This record gives sequence, C-alpha cells and structure tokens, in this order.
Amino acid sequence: MAKEIYVKKARIIGTGSYLPEKVLNNFDLEKMVDTTNDWILARTGIEERRIAADNESTSDLATKAAQRALEMAGVTPEEIDLIVMGTITGDYPWPATACIVQNNLGAKNAYAYDLSAACSGFVYALSSASDFLLAGRGKKALVIGAETLSRIVDWTDRNTCVLFGDGAGAVVLEAQEGESGILSCHMHSDGSYLDLLYQPGFGSKNPVSVQGIEDRSSFLKMQGNEVFKVAVRSLTEVSHEALKANDIKVKDLSLFIPHQANRRILEATAKRLKLQDEQCYINVNKYGNTSGATIPVAMDEAYRQGLLKEGGLVLLSAFGGGFTWGSVLLRW
Ligand code: COA
Repeated sequence: MAKEIYVKKARIIGTGSYLPEKVLNNFDLEKMVDTTNDWILARTGIEERRIAADNESTSDLATKAAQRALEMAGVTPEEIDLIVMGTITGDYPWPATACIVQNNLGAKNAYAYDLSAACSGFVYALSSASDFLLAGRGKKALVIGAETLSRIVDWTDRNTCVLFGDGAGAVVLEAQEGESGILSCHMHSDGSYLDLLYQPGFGSKNPVSVQGIEDRSSFLKMQGNEVFKVAVRSLTEVSHEALKANDIKVKDLSLFIPHQANRRILEATAKRLKLQDEQCYINVNKYGNTSGATIPVAMDEAYRQGLLKEGGLVLLSAFGGGFTWGSVLLRW
C-alpha cells in the first residue's frame, strides 16, 4: 500500500488559560459610571469581566496560562525554542514581556519576543510562530495572548470601560507530519483606521504627562459605532478567505472561535457566514473583551469541554486596533 506523504504542519499539542480571580460585574459598574446592567447586556452581551489584582501584571497571567499549556502538552520549559506573545499591555514599555515569561518558566533555550497587533495579537503570533517552526527555526513554540486592559482603560468613560477585561491564554505548537495542524494563515492590516481604536498616550507621540493622565487623553479611545461595522465586515471577509483558500464549506467547520469583542458583533458575523449556533464558541459574557487573550482562552475552554476533537476543522478569526485582522484555519 502506498505510504501517504504528509507535509509538516505546526500543530497545537497543549492549551492553557488563566483568568484573574476578581470578578467585576455590571452591577459593580453601575456604581462607577452612568450605566446599567440592562444597557451593557443588551448592547454587548457581557455580564462580567475579570480584573487583575494589584500585584498581578500581564507576565503573571501569561506565565500561569503557559504553565497549564505545557502541562497539557507534557512538554518541559527547556524544550521550548521560541516564545511569541501577542500583547498591548506588557509589564513595561520594554523589554518584551515574553522575556519575563521565559525567565518565569525557566524556558532557558527559547528566544522570546512580543508582537503588537491589539486584539489580533494571538492569531498574528500563531501565524508567526507557525512560519518559524516550518522554516526550521525551532521544534516547539509557546504562543501566548495575554492582557491587563484594566490598566489602560479610562474607568470614567462608560463608552469603553464596560467592554474590557484581563486574562491570558497559551498554546504549545510543534511542527509535525500528519493531517492535523495549521492549514492556513491570512493576516491583514489597514493603518488608516488609527483614530477609531487606539491609546493616544504613553508612547513617543504623546509621552507620559500629568495632563494626559488628568484629562484622560492618554487612555484607550474608541469610536464604537464605526469599529462595530468594520469588525463585522472584516471578520466575515477573512473567514470566507480562509474557507475559500482551503476549499472548505461553512458546514464542514467543527468550531468557529472568533475574537470575543461583543456578542452582537459575533452574532452578526455568524449570521453572515451562515454558521449554526453550535458551530460558534462564545464566552464574551464571562470575560468581556480581553483583546489578544480572547481566542486562546476560548480555545482552551472549548478543548477542555471536549468540543475540539481530533480531525475537526477549527477557524480562528480576529479583528483589532491598527486595524489588524486575520484568520487561522486548523485541523485539530
Ligand atoms: N451605558 C449606558 N449608555 C451608554 C454606555 C453605557 N456603558 N456607553 C454608551 N452609552 C450611550 C452613548 O453615550 C449614546 O448615548 P447618546 O445617544 O445620548 O449619545 C448611546 O449609548 C448610544 O451609543 P452608541 O455608541 O450608538 O451605542 P451602540 O449601540 O453602538 O453600542 C458599543 C456601543 C460600544 C457597545 C458598540 O458600538 C460596540 O460594541 N462597538 C464595538 C466595540 C468593540 O468591540 N471594540 C473592540 C474591537 S476589537
């Protein structure tokens, strides 16, 4: 019998996540800004979000998620050759938080760097790590999405503060021969949308200033309505792009795991893609938008719930500030 020849693919062999203990629900927010539980639920589908403790930073969340992914994969920290971390809320402006995580884990053989693509950070990181492994620049990689958005949100702005939360997710990636693994990555950017979603302060354009903190101009800014429209369009287009490139029908997808920004965005996207409810993983109600962490956290939950079965087709699609958007299609 002819031996099947498989092309090497980067395959996820372990997942992990970590959410801080502190829960901030919509009723807590009612006491902080002029909002209501009903408004937040109706417009976003978010019920509660997690907030990092004062002594917790992004590297702490990322380290715990990574340890859980390594444990599931049965891989030691020393076996990791590469750590790529999608984050926009690193511990410091520099160096890379991935280096702090590398040290925390004892992954002394890994080179480590951060990648800034906002809410698309994890799919961008997954795509980069996959390419590096297939190029022979290592055998095993840790890919992390971790954020403490609570540190850059304006807690007096009801337009934004109700949407975001903190969390981290991670996967261990290994180049393997076989049917399972990443089938395609499609990444996009459009810098002309800068003003719709960004953090104006604390960078080289508007350095740290007392004024920027007092008048809140340094914190996260967003034009929600406009972001909403582009998000639905981009998530739909990039998902179609992945399916078409792999000659796969929507009905063949086992699970669609989109960036969890807002239930209405997810439902509008799922409707346009003609996905069935059971094909779409949604957990934004529990954690809000944790930016680069939403997809790996959702993937870890789905896997541990038995929703990801070997051979199943899984589509990850993300959208975020930059604007950036992208998809990763994989066979589990
Ligand atoms: N509580 C009560 N009212 C609020 C509010 C809150 N938390 N936030 C905004 N409002 C008010 C606005 O001030 C506005 O009042 P006005 O009409 O008196 O000016 C009204 O609600 C409607 O605002 P609008 O922005 O039109 O609401 P919306 O239906 O677009 O919902 C978002 C707002 C932010 C929920 C929605 O636009 C959204 O989800 N956008 C995408 C955000 C996102 O996901 N960003 C990250 C992408 S990675």
